[in-house]
Amino acid sequence: MTRLFSSLELRETSIPNRVMVSPMCQYSCEDRDGLATAWHRTHLGSRAVGGAGVVMAEATAVEPRGRISPEDLGIWSDEHADALAPVAEFVREQGSVPAIQLAHAGRKASTTRPWEGHGPVAPEEGGWTVVGPTDDPWPHDGEAPPTERLTPEEIEGVVESFRAAAERSLAAGFEIAEVHAAHGYLLHQFLSPVTNTRGDAYGGGFEGRTRLLRAVTEAVRDVWPDGKPVFVRLSATDWLPDRDSWTVEDSIRLADRLAELGVDLIDVSGGGIHPDSSPERTGPNYQVRYAERVREETDRRVAVGAVGGITTPEQAEAVVANERADLAIVGREHLRDPYFALRAAQALDATDEIEGPPQYRRAFGF
Ligand code: FNR
Repeated sequence: MTRLFSSLELRETSIPNRVMVSPMCQYSCEDRDGLATAWHRTHLGSRAVGGAGVVMAEATAVEPRGRISPEDLGIWSDEHADALAPVAEFVREQGSVPAIQLAHAGRKASTTRPWEGHGPVAPEEGGWTVVGPTDDPWPHDGEAPPTERLTPEEIEGVVESFRAAAERSLAAGFEIAEVHAAHGYLLHQFLSPVTNTRGDAYGGGFEGRTRLLRAVTEAVRDVWPDGKPVFVRLSATDWLPDRDSWTVEDSIRLADRLAELGVDLIDVSGGGIHPDSSPERTGPNYQVRYAERVREETDRRVAVGAVGGITTPEQAEAVVANERADLAIVGREHLRDPYFALRAAQALDATDEIEGPPQYRRAFGF
């Protein structure tokens, strides 16, 4: 028996195996309206057919100004939930657990799609004024876009946007809600002293800088049913050791607090807060050691997912079998191969441990 194809029980949700499709923006909404399209249905649907235990939809904006690019998915109205409902339904029909990442890009919002240059989109070109903990803009190469500091009242509005987005995600049929607090987006901008120099209750020390994420988590947990899991994605470290920045020790301390608030799994990523932030090393498993530390140093009070450079069945199996993490989260390899999990079952001689789609039985032999 493999560990990778054993189930993971979180609350009343049974995840059939330990492979998760990492949330990955597709920048593919037509008409810049945030509505899911045939692309999203096909993209997420084929990865569910491919056997992953959890299929996580990309960073989905809780407010229009929280989109990274104007082409990002959103969930700020019931119409958005209706457009996502067939995605969740199809993923569930394949035996995978449908999940959604709830996000706000803060000062990193209103940019072009990566293949169109990654620069800012000006308000007159269909972009918008971005918001953050301060009015310091993301250090773009060219002219910085207008950036506004959120007032305490607006911060409360952000919390309510996450709450409403979670309610709509549930109505759309998702089983897991993940709060995106990583990669330099709004919630991470509040966590990190690199970007949060506020002097009020939302800034200063650890308590102040974590206040917004804790409030968002409480709001999401409040509306998410007791039987269903909530995940939080963190950047374990800012990768800026030479300045006052967010560290792995901060993440461990925060993970403990989030567990107390009812978070079931910390999805452990890294970086993104500043253009100077770059991993000490890349390649296979480049962030797994942070997941392992969060798991061990919280005394396993909260499950963890490891992401980054997991590309082979053997690696994924080793990450979970050696108890470095509870979930092996696979991003880019799922873009190369939507059937990663089915192929992993084949490679690990575990086809009798999964229920693959009968339509593909003759190819995979389960
Ligand atoms: C990403 N990533 C990402 N992360 C996230 O939390 N929300 C998102 O919407 C996205 N979007 C996204 C789009 C694309 C095209 C890529 C390649 C990546 C990061 C991703 O989830 C993952 O953490 C990293 O890619 C590292 O894992 P891999 O790719 O090494 O398995």
